[in-house]
Amino acid sequence: MLLIWVGALRVDGGKLTQGEVVALYNYMAKILVELIKLADLIITITRALASAKRAAALIDTKGEDENGVASVPAPVAGAPLIEFRDAGLTYRGSAEPALEHISFTADRGERIGVIGGTGSGKSSLVSLIPRFYKNDGGEVLYSGVPAQELPVGAIRERIGVVPQHTALFRGSVRDNIRWGKPDATDDEIREALSAAQALDFVEAKEGGLDFMIQENGSNLSGGQKQRLAIARALVKKPEILILDDSSSALDYATDLKLRQALSQLDSAPCVFTVSQRTVAVRDCDRILVLDDGKLAGTGTHDELLKNNPIYREIHLSQYPEEAEKR
Ligand SMILES: Nc1ncnc2c1ncn2[C@@H]1O[C@H](COP(=O)(O)OP(=O)(O)OP(=O)(O)O)[C@@H](O)[C@H]1O
Ligand SMILES: [Mg+2]
Repeated sequence: MLLIWVGALRVDGGKLTQGEVVALYNYMAKILVELIKLADLIITITRALASAKRAAALIDTKGEDENGVASVPAPVAGAPLIEFRDAGLTYRGSAEPALEHISFTADRGERIGVIGGTGSGKSSLVSLIPRFYKNDGGEVLYSGVPAQELPVGAIRERIGVVPQHTALFRGSVRDNIRWGKPDATDDEIREALSAAQALDFVEAKEGGLDFMIQENGSNLSGGQKQRLAIARALVKKPEILILDDSSSALDYATDLKLRQALSQLDSAPCVFTVSQRTVAVRDCDRILVLDDGKLAGTGTHDELLKNNPIYREIHLSQYPEEAEKR
């Protein structure tokens, strides 16, 4: 305004031409815009520096339980693939134990179901297997070797986990599956996708394996995300596969096909299926029923239905028509 005011007076007095005032005004506007950009840049750089510091601190964080063991002891002959002996878990900062006195064994090719109400400790139990948490009390053994005598990396190498909340990253389908096995070939990826019942929808997408997934998989449906997460766990052909509520977003037909495909895998992994629905675990070799952090029963679907009140209650609440028959 000052510029126009003074300029106008000068033009009036004949000292400046109108064109010169307009030019000056335009130059000033350009300079101002650049100054605003510079100020923005300074703010962005300061923010980036602070973020970089936090990211670096996170990357440098050492795992709490690296065990410090370099060599892998020989497995004990005849020991089960995985064994829990009276294992417990108390999360740091909580007074109540999340798990107590858990004992069971699981072997190659076996299907183990884990069922229980919400908060009963299902996710806690399966997170002890890949050592996401350390058990306190009791022992967890892998082929007869206690967990603390094994390098954590060697344990995780054998385990594929599909967590309850799937995390997908921005990038192609191929890149996301390769998180499971960095050097996986396209054939291996297709094989894993096919077992996870994901090949059909991936091939229907533009670009197939090159289809770009948005941050957090926001351009996929819940069930599609779950199936990609399963493929990611399968691609490394794990000895132990953990599915934590991984079919909750699948329709019954797809869920059934998925379970059939898993039981036909060449690598014959020991599969842990966590679910709140009895239909997802009813054909398992063994079902662990959890109640408030304790093992309330173990057995097959028919045995538990007969002998275990908690399992029966869960089942009948989902199939009320069977309750009427009784
Ligand atoms: N990281 C954690 N820190 C502290 N407490 C936890 C943590 N994770 C779970 N818990 C507690 O442990 C108990 C068991 O939780 P868990 O996640 O194992 O239940 P869940 O059976 O998997 O339930 P859902 O069916 O809802 O997934 C809950 O009481 C919960 O509050
Ligand atoms: Mg859970």
